[in-house]
Amino acid sequence: SANDGYKLWLQYYSIPDDSESRSHFGSIHVSGNSPTIEAIKQELDLAANGFFGTQAIMKEADEASIIIKKHDKEIANVISKKDINSIGDQGFVIKTIKSGSQTKIYITANSDLGLLYGTFKWLQYVQKGDMLPEDGLVQSPKIERRILNHWDNLDRTVERGYSGFSIWNWHRLPRHIDQQYLDYARANAAIGINGTVVTNVNANSLVLTEEYLEKVAALADVFRPYGIKTYLTARFSSPIEIGKLNTADPLDPDVQKWWADKAEEIYRHIPDFGGFLVKADSEGQPGPHNYKRSQAEGANLLADALKPHGGIVMWRAFVYSEESPDDRAKQAYNEFKPLDGKFRDNVIVQVKNGAIDFQPREPFHPMFGGLTQTPLMMEFQITQEYLGHDTHMAFLSNMYEEVLQTDTHAKGEGSTVSKIISGNLHDHDLTAIAGVANIGTDRNWTGNHFHQANWYSYGRLAWDPDESSDIIAKDWLELTFTRDETFVSKIQKMMLDSHQMVVNYMTPLGLHHIMAWNHHYGPGPWITDKHRDDWTSTYYHQASSYGIGFDRTASGSNALSQYHPHLSEKWSDKSSVPEKYLLWFHHVAWDHTLSSGRILWDELALRYQKGVNEARNNIETWQEMEGKIDQERFKHIASFLKIQAEEAEWWKNACLLYFQQFSQKPFPDGVEEPE
Ligand code: GCU
Repeated sequence: SANDGYKLWLQYYSIPDDSESRSHFGSIHVSGNSPTIEAIKQELDLAANGFFGTQAIMKEADEASIIIKKHDKEIANVISKKDINSIGDQGFVIKTIKSGSQTKIYITANSDLGLLYGTFKWLQYVQKGDMLPEDGLVQSPKIERRILNHWDNLDRTVERGYSGFSIWNWHRLPRHIDQQYLDYARANAAIGINGTVVTNVNANSLVLTEEYLEKVAALADVFRPYGIKTYLTARFSSPIEIGKLNTADPLDPDVQKWWADKAEEIYRHIPDFGGFLVKADSEGQPGPHNYKRSQAEGANLLADALKPHGGIVMWRAFVYSEESPDDRAKQAYNEFKPLDGKFRDNVIVQVKNGAIDFQPREPFHPMFGGLTQTPLMMEFQITQEYLGHDTHMAFLSNMYEEVLQTDTHAKGEGSTVSKIISGNLHDHDLTAIAGVANIGTDRNWTGNHFHQANWYSYGRLAWDPDESSDIIAKDWLELTFTRDETFVSKIQKMMLDSHQMVVNYMTPLGLHHIMAWNHHYGPGPWITDKHRDDWTSTYYHQASSYGIGFDRTASGSNALSQYHPHLSEKWSDKSSVPEKYLLWFHHVAWDHTLSSGRILWDELALRYQKGVNEARNNIETWQEMEGKIDQERFKHIASFLKIQAEEAEWWKNACLLYFQQFSQKPFPDGVEEPE
């Protein structure tokens, strides 16, 4: 039905009646009394209704077959102390206990939120028809703060958003609470997301005025029972714009007092406010540089204001200047490395996964592993700014996983990015991860039905950054569509191959930032803007009659020197750099031979063609699925896949014809000549 897309991974579609689960829903004991406990009961009811058309029936503990209860003396009889101690205040334990002919399922935790997470997990098992593991489930998040970043403006436009307008209706808030806010909270809690920054990093200081704080507080009230903390972006010049001061200098006592008072005011409205996210000194945003102060001095100003209330500052590392002659890929590291250790303990530096800007594929940002004394958090982009916006299907889980599992070698072999952001490698307690949301007012939230999977996979990887994309894809399909095995296995494969497919038809072999000027939709490897060197595509691909690619070795910008020597040595050599990063780090001759035995030009052309072929095949694979899911979603996806295949061809033709002017070589066999 038209509603199915709206329901995300909380479909609760009907499941076979013969299952044991039906009887479980007839005797549940949920102990406790709080808005979170109420949320648990409501969710159980919704699920029972969807699965079996019944209600969830509450019983006393001794009569119930599902016991959802915080850890206490009674639970201690069935759940081991070791398990309970290992889950902290956000985790949960689910155990099936058999005594005689009776089976009881225990869901326990150290907090109501842990119980909510455990309940969602159990409901997901029921929906998928999976058996709980013999020895139960003992889970807790590896990263403390798992946050969505909304690039939502107060006028409800969404920067780089492709699925309608902002779901925050500022005009109606605080008096009207839309159901969508609640469903947003449910969907996030179901995958363990526990924070949201509701405003754009290109911030408007108005959101820090009383009028807006009341609206934000109303949202925070909806999110709170679901364990979701609210954060805001803070514009550095706010003391001037809304505070009537004539400076925002971080060392000015009046400025410091202004922020301290502002923090107090915020906490009066939102007692559990999470803190600020700040973009400063980048792309026109004000910041400490305006006063010749460092990023640390800027961050510490806000950190000191929030500290008495328990708030944190997420200070973005996306700092660069278009006026600098230096390779943009190097600027953040150069700026932040000397400041390592100079930040307050409630500051965490938020680093994009790569050093340029959310390209279809980037090597990990050298700040990971480069800074050791400052906690770093990951910023992934869920919205597809550089990957075809709403219409191109790309399962980003594989991309996230690739970055998380890359070995930085910072402390020897095994120093993966995942270990850094979970605080293990350098022993940090403050840990966080952010995903730039792809959510909007579209009926299905994300425009492309498949892009729900990117929001979902982000949540799963935020909870466990070592989770594998295969499992995430399968779970998402079963929760969102159907248990049908053919559908799940075929579409799972299509999803798992999709990121590489998009890389192939857009930016194979390490090419980057050759998207059309400004909006970034579609190809644009040609010169588009003469005002800013670093913003022209030609700057990034450097195509010439000799070859193509950006030299970041010692003979070029030497950005490679920012990586651990183990990597920089290996990656400095054209023959040992992973081919997927070849043109990211090297300027390579058109007739240089690659591992396939083909010359660069031929390989490049074949990769583009491969991407196109796969996009076309997806149309067919999808057609075979007709009847397995509802018509509405089936048709919507079919039509997007067609657009994607057409545009893959557009990408291939545009890029190859453009680059051919430099290579002067014919298309190899197997590559279609554009008509
Ligand atoms: C990209 C994007 C901008 C955004 C910026 C950021 O450059 O195009 O719209 O503001 O990233 O992350 O701050």
